[in-house]
Amino acid sequence: MTTQEMTLVDAREAKGEVNEQLGRVLASSLAFIQKVRFFHWTVRGRDFFSLHEQFETLYKQWDAHADGLAERLVRLGGRPAGTLVEVMERSEVVETSREIGADQMVGVVIDDLKLLAGGFGRAIDLAEELGDRTTVNLLDAVADDIQHSLYLFGSYLRD
Ligand SMILES: [Fe+2]
Repeated sequence: MTTQEMTLVDAREAKGEVNEQLGRVLASSLAFIQKVRFFHWTVRGRDFFSLHEQFETLYKQWDAHADGLAERLVRLGGRPAGTLVEVMERSEVVETSREIGADQMVGVVIDDLKLLAGGFGRAIDLAEELGDRTTVNLLDAVADDIQHSLYLFGSYLRD
C-alpha cells in the first residue's frame, strides 16, 4: 500500500470514528432530553415554579442541539439512531423512571451534564484531528452550553 493509499485509509477510519462518536453524543443527548422532560413533568415542592421552567428551558435547548447534531451526522454520511431502543443502546446517559426529589433531580442533571461534557470533548478531539472545523464549531457551541448549565444548576445546589 502506498503512503497516499495509507493516508486515505487513515482518513476514512478517522471519519468513521467521528461519525461513531457523533452518533453516541446524539443518542446521549436524546436520552438526556427525555430524562429532563420527565423531571419537568414530575418535579414537586417549593421549587416547583423555578425548576419546572428551568427543566423546560434545558430540554428545549438540547432539542435544538440534537437536531443540529443529527443533521451534521447525516451530512457526514452517518446515520442517527432511528428507534428509542437504538438510542439507549448508543447512549452513555442512563434513563430513569424513578420519581425523585427536586434536589436529587438537579444532582442527576449535573452528573449527566458532566458525562455529556466528556462525550462532547472526545467528539471535539476527533473532529479536530480530522480538521473538520464545521463539526468542531457545532460541538463547541454545545460544550459551552454544558458549562453554562453546570454553573446554573451547580449554583442552585450551593447554599
Ligand atoms: Fe410543560
